[in-house]
Amino acid sequence: MPAPNHSASTDITSILKEKRFFAPPADFAARSHIKSLDDYQRLYKRSMDDPEGFWAEAARELYWFRPFTSVLDWHIPDARWFDGGQLNASFNCVDRQIEAGHGDDVAIIWEGEPIGEDGQPEVRRLTYNDLEYEVAKLANVLDDLGVNKGEVVTIYMGMVPELAIAVLACARIGAPHSVIFGGFSATAIADRVSDAKSKVVITCDGSWRRGKIVPLKDNVDEAMQLASGVVTHTIVLRRCGNPIKMMPGRDHEWEDLMSRAEPDRDPTPMEAEDLLFILYTSGTTGKPKGIMHTTGGYSVFTYLTAKYAFDLRPDEGQVYWCTADVGWVTGHSYIIYGILPNRVPSLMYEGAPNYPEPDRFWDIIARHKVTTFYTAPTAIRAFMKWGEAHPGKHDLSSLRLLGTVGEPINPEAWMWYHRVIGGGRCPVVDTFWQTETGGHMITPLPGATPTKPGSCTLPFFGIDAAIVDEQGNEKPANTGGLLAIRKPWPGMLRGIYGDRKRFIETYFSRIKGMYFPADGARRDEDGYFWIMGRVDDVINVSGHRLGTMEVESALVSHPAVAEAAVVAMPHEIKGQGIAAFVTLKGGQQPTEDLRTELVNHVGHEIGHIAKPDQIRFTDALPKTRSGKIMRRLLREIAEGHEPRGDTTTLEDFSVLARLRESEEG
Ligand code: WT7
Repeated sequence: MPAPNHSASTDITSILKEKRFFAPPADFAARSHIKSLDDYQRLYKRSMDDPEGFWAEAARELYWFRPFTSVLDWHIPDARWFDGGQLNASFNCVDRQIEAGHGDDVAIIWEGEPIGEDGQPEVRRLTYNDLEYEVAKLANVLDDLGVNKGEVVTIYMGMVPELAIAVLACARIGAPHSVIFGGFSATAIADRVSDAKSKVVITCDGSWRRGKIVPLKDNVDEAMQLASGVVTHTIVLRRCGNPIKMMPGRDHEWEDLMSRAEPDRDPTPMEAEDLLFILYTSGTTGKPKGIMHTTGGYSVFTYLTAKYAFDLRPDEGQVYWCTADVGWVTGHSYIIYGILPNRVPSLMYEGAPNYPEPDRFWDIIARHKVTTFYTAPTAIRAFMKWGEAHPGKHDLSSLRLLGTVGEPINPEAWMWYHRVIGGGRCPVVDTFWQTETGGHMITPLPGATPTKPGSCTLPFFGIDAAIVDEQGNEKPANTGGLLAIRKPWPGMLRGIYGDRKRFIETYFSRIKGMYFPADGARRDEDGYFWIMGRVDDVINVSGHRLGTMEVESALVSHPAVAEAAVVAMPHEIKGQGIAAFVTLKGGQQPTEDLRTELVNHVGHEIGHIAKPDQIRFTDALPKTRSGKIMRRLLREIAEGHEPRGDTTTLEDFSVLARLRESEEG
């Protein structure tokens, strides 16, 4: 293994040795927006030399009611983009396509979870005309309920087309939306409506999840008791037909209100820096942060990143599918705001990947001839665990591009995705970004960037990403350090709702003069970025700081392992040791021999220093609702005490009980 380099406290020792490399297929490159690494580099250089010129040009691809007079005004941490300009995000997503003569093009393809008696799921196709009709009506409904420009509307729905309609209706009238993921509980809703002082909640009776009904309206009722007096009106869409309570005067049927609403409502011209939405994201501690995104910069950034990273081009039969829920930023940016202005149909699927069978996603891809598929590493690892037979049953030849987001993807999972789902012919874009960044920060451009499994490759245009120490000094190649962004970009968060101090402390205090995403990373000799995990999760073994990603990837590269999470545990000699929580692939037995084999495997793959001191076999890992492994909880278990602190985002509480029972080795 390479000599660990640990000259400063921010060094993170890099131990991953990944040498595989995939050039963009020539035919793909020839047809794409950015056709070569040279083209990327030329445009990237321009975006660094003249960011304002670059972003002004990009912004003019959207429609402005009034042109902007300044491009950027930057007084760290406050960015103002496109001042003087007026636009409307729903207009750019919908009306603009209609005005250009594409009203009958399909904007959203939706598939419900339940399978009907005819053996088919429900499918709806909404054109831009359909969307405008519904969005305008709902906008009028919101007006009539007294929602004013600037007042936050909460949306808590399942993945139905009406969710996209609700988001766009808010944007149309200039009411910032706060979408709450439909898997969250009443407490989460209560916290968020209170924080945002949201008077109106749009919800459903229930939502379908793995054949069962999640009682959304009941949850809203409970939330309204917890946060009494905040919400004055709810709009309730009937989706599942489960019994619900409706309080007259407060709770309104979607259907009733919509049937009486007029189908015309001009989009309100918004200032570029007017708030478009708040999206709550949980930090490691404390209450959720309401991340603020504004109209102009976010619209431009999501539009352009989607166009280039997914190589979206209308009129070529592309069908784009992002499997995220609209309740996450991925759904905001890359189901709705970044996709619709590119005029490629955006597929929305209502339910679970394994309903009724673990091949549902592949069935959807085959039936809708999906060309572009965007999902998360946690899902890919589940697909690997379920086995190749499921995708093998379906014709996936329509696919031309694959994407991932949410966590570092282990090289083995990348390879599996590329080979089994992509048939070895589709580029894989590993897109690094955050709720706070609004859109892709570091990502391959599929026709231009040669990919390396496990690396999110190179920064997007205008993104000045670097690996630095606490003082902001750039580190040499292949030395792990802090990831930092040195220039503002249009999609950056504008604040945390109601908490300026936390905004500054969280993102702009650790490294002077730069945005800090809280991830550790290194850049290799080709300038490629390798995210090593959250800096909070770094493990310090005998003075070597190790990122979690690399050790986990070594474990996942063993044929018996489906998923792994490593955390620090107290160690008398080394300071910290490594505890590894491992789930095995179907049919594998958790034996003492396998435990020894895994420890040696890590030693062989990356070196003695990274050998786990403890391996615990478990049948599941604790995850957030968005699929991220909760290493904080694992750390507490590895330290030998009951998990404390916030577990409200934990997906499956029974996992914790099972983990405590997991045998120690
Ligand atoms: C954090 C942001 C961005 C939408 C979904 C998650 C991790 C995200 C990658 C990637 C390595 C990644 C980072 C980041 N992350 N994408 N491609 N490679 N790490 O949004 O919940 O705001 O989480 O997810 O740690 O900081 P989020």
